[in-house]
Amino acid sequence: MTSHDPLLQPFRLKHLTLRNRVVSTSHEPAYAEDGMPKDRYRLYHREKAVGGVGLTMIGGSAVVSPDSPPAFGNLLLYRDDIVPWLQRLADDVHEAGAAVMCQVTHLGRRTSNFTGDWLPLVYPSPLREPAHRSFPKVAETWDLDRIVADYAAAAQRCRAAGLDGIELQSYGHLFDAFHSPATNRREDELGGSLEARTAFPRRVVQAVRAAVGPDFVVGLRMSMDEDSADGLGRAEALVALEQYVGDGIDFLSVIRGTIETDATLARVIPSMGTPSAPFLDFTGEVRRAVRVPVMHASRISDVATARYAVREGLVDLVGMTRPQMADPHLVAKVAAGEEDRIRPCVGANYCLDAIYQSGDAKCVHNAATGREQTLLHIQPLAARRRRAVVVGAGPAGLEAARVLGERGHEVVLMEAADHPGGQVRLASASARRRDLIGIVDWRVSEAKHHGVDLRYGTWADAATVLAEEPDVVVVATGGLPNPTFGGEGEHLVLDTWDVMSGAVHPQGRVLVYDDHGAEPALDAAELLAVRGAEVELVTPERMLAPDVGSMNSPAYLRAFAEHDVTLTLARRLVGVRRDGGGLVARLGSDYTDLVVERRVDHVVVEHGTLPNDELYHELVPLSSNGGAVDHPALLAVRPQPVAGAHGSFQLFRIGDAVTSRNIHAAVYDALRLCSAV
Ligand SMILES: Cc1cc2nc3c(=O)[nH]c(=O)nc-3n(C[C@H](O)[C@H](O)[C@H](O)COP(=O)(O)O)c2cc1C
Ligand code: SF4
Repeated sequence: MTSHDPLLQPFRLKHLTLRNRVVSTSHEPAYAEDGMPKDRYRLYHREKAVGGVGLTMIGGSAVVSPDSPPAFGNLLLYRDDIVPWLQRLADDVHEAGAAVMCQVTHLGRRTSNFTGDWLPLVYPSPLREPAHRSFPKVAETWDLDRIVADYAAAAQRCRAAGLDGIELQSYGHLFDAFHSPATNRREDELGGSLEARTAFPRRVVQAVRAAVGPDFVVGLRMSMDEDSADGLGRAEALVALEQYVGDGIDFLSVIRGTIETDATLARVIPSMGTPSAPFLDFTGEVRRAVRVPVMHASRISDVATARYAVREGLVDLVGMTRPQMADPHLVAKVAAGEEDRIRPCVGANYCLDAIYQSGDAKCVHNAATGREQTLLHIQPLAARRRRAVVVGAGPAGLEAARVLGERGHEVVLMEAADHPGGQVRLASASARRRDLIGIVDWRVSEAKHHGVDLRYGTWADAATVLAEEPDVVVVATGGLPNPTFGGEGEHLVLDTWDVMSGAVHPQGRVLVYDDHGAEPALDAAELLAVRGAEVELVTPERMLAPDVGSMNSPAYLRAFAEHDVTLTLARRLVGVRRDGGGLVARLGSDYTDLVVERRVDHVVVEHGTLPNDELYHELVPLSSNGGAVDHPALLAVRPQPVAGAHGSFQLFRIGDAVTSRNIHAAVYDALRLCSAV
């Protein structure tokens, strides 16, 4: 039956017919190995193609020259040996019915002088980029000549590999730095008027077009309004674009804003707690003013908004990039009438922050993304149906129940509280981060879909579990706050759960001590400050919350600035004592013996959790495996060996019931264990 869904209509882009309107826009997940898109990279994009995407754009910021060294795992398009890898990827994506293009760029100053070949970075003017902190040299004529040639050679490699096209990157990199008055301060023939400022980018477009010939798609992803006082405004951007189109550009991917600081990048790739599709109307206005097809991505996270964007003619192609990291089968689910089963992108931006925190992109609640070599996005039925009991309905337990249910097992999930969610529910008490609850809601809904017996308000002891006569028991009982700091007065402090759960409402002067380094202390400090407390956030680290990355920190820092939260680094809480009606917090330092004191009304301590593992230890002697996990089997996603002479069930422990970690670790524990049961 022909679908009338605007999202599912084919689109003709030059000679190319895309099967639908949904795109995964260029993004670098840092899955390259040696700068090459090897198997991991290929399978990541192949999954989206299998899942129905119309066009997948690879190589976010794939680099054309050695003096544009990788800043976040970028592909090295200046090497000839990339061609066979690109070719394999293109073949796989084509076989699954999607088109594939690569983003091509020279990063300019948006990388480091101290990586790759250690060549000095080049830029139109000697301006430091705040985010990557490199000092670039002023590009000379010979630099620009070779870079133009490098662009052309890179484009040719993409064409030789059988890609359907490329996209030139024009926001925050070298190309746009020339046409933007904010970054081009040159006084030679390449600076000043718009005509002079577009001279270098035009050379790039012309050289690329000459290199690939007329029948290869070449697009431009460009900031059509830098939204800053001295930046490129919309009127000039439209004039520049018109020139680039005349030089051979076939489509426009619209960006609004700039990316030179954490704060501006976070606006371009907005996270949870911000409005949906903030630049969609702007994109519609741009589309009406240009003569090439337009695509756009920016927090168009739900299918209804994407459909609206296409139906109302605001875009020709709609980017749903993080949404397809969360669920690469998004389009297939739309086509199958199963929109309600799409795993939602909750806007946690863990995908981006994980690149810097742990080396590559990871979706906070889809552990299979980027791990397609070992993990499946859709679970096949198990050969033998088993009876499983999962205890705990936090992210680990819910994921375990969902996966076991999808595998066709008979699953009972027991949760002591009268609602699911665990620590995710606590975190989502922050108004700004309430979308996190989507992680819980989706799993509950999927678990129900797969027939899981969800029992809330059920306290599970060994007898309750054994009464179910399980073959497999998964303990996901989470952790309990551990507000220790190793000094006198621990009984006088609160923990962040007290604050986030609403159990207490500390007012007055509150010292929040963060010896964890992740979100919980920041959430508590923000909540307290918003409610009017006078907050000082103290950490023993030399920076604020080292585990909260550059995409998530801007919103906290804005809230702290707006509510005048005092930030104190490199101070360790060494003691708390009562003093009159209040408390005195003693702050030492790892670097000196000097101790300072703070008079406050409350001290809130965040130091992670300790496992809530009583049930697990009760069950260990009764189980067949003593709770042991066979690591080689776990890592290869093979069934755990059924060992031991006694015990009728296998016992496993996952998530924070093992040790204090994060949401991604919890769902990853569950997925790789349970998809092999
Ligand atoms: C992990 C990650 C890496 C990204 N890298 C790039 C990049 O190299 N070049 C680029 O133009 N955009 C990059 N983006 C931005 C995306 O293409 C897209 O514009 C952004 O995610 C907003 O769209 P969405 O809300 O549909 O995800 C990246 C996004 C993510 C999540
Ligand atoms: S980490 Fe968050 S923002 Fe990124 S894809 Fe997953 S749900 Fe979306």
